[in-house]
Amino acid sequence: MTITQQTLSVVEAIRTRRTVRHYRPDPVSERDLDVLLELAAEAPSSWNLQDRSIVVVSSEEGRAALAAATGGQPQALEAPVLLVFLAEPQAWREDRADVRRRAVASGAGNEEFAAAFAEASTAFQLDLEERGLTREYAVKDAVIAASFLLLAATELGLATSPMNGWGEEAVKAAVGVGGREDIAVALLVALGHPAENRPHPGRRSLARVVSRERYPAGR
Ligand SMILES: Cc1cc2nc3c(=O)[nH]c(=O)nc-3n(C[C@H](O)[C@H](O)[C@H](O)COP(=O)(O)O)c2cc1C
Repeated sequence: MTITQQTLSVVEAIRTRRTVRHYRPDPVSERDLDVLLELAAEAPSSWNLQDRSIVVVSSEEGRAALAAATGGQPQALEAPVLLVFLAEPQAWREDRADVRRRAVASGAGNEEFAAAFAEASTAFQLDLEERGLTREYAVKDAVIAASFLLLAATELGLATSPMNGWGEEAVKAAVGVGGREDIAVALLVALGHPAENRPHPGRRSLARVVSRERYPAGR
């Protein structure tokens, strides 16, 4: 699937994206949604594990349950689509032969390389598991996919709002994974047509954010 009419460069999308908290009720077209989900799935992940999943919630009932889980944040109440980015810290145990086949077919590596890569990634994950870090790593992979979607939505003229403010159990129950310990909620994203213009909220100076070679002494 491709975007036929490009309106913004990645640079422009990064510069103009804002967290929008008020939405018009107009639905997001299925075509736009398909493009956005495909682009989110293109985001990189640790060892290409893709240990994440996106639940698209657009039903009245599902959105109401998620809005309640956010304590009634306006963007969750108003946006026609809510995306729940789930982290799957156990996904590395699944068979990934389909991905390996695609990697070999595209010339990313031969069979031998793909098998060695899979073995090394399993060793990496076993070590993470021992250190209690598989959830954290899966959350990183889910959030980077969400980040891609925020930018792609900007490109399509749609607005988004990433959200951290929710009760995890209530979100899980709303999307049918209540009580599942092998799944974590990484981020909610409201998606729709903006009903407000948000000015730039300001960023810290680059001098505060960036240093060269070493973290600033004494900070
Ligand atoms: C991980 C994450 C979680 C956030 N959670 C919320 C939230 O729950 N509610 C909210 O109103 N904004 C939330 N925001 C939006 C931030 O407040 C916003 O990104 C920040 O103020 C900068 O504004 P901008 O996105 O327009 O540049 C979240 C942003 C991020 C990246």
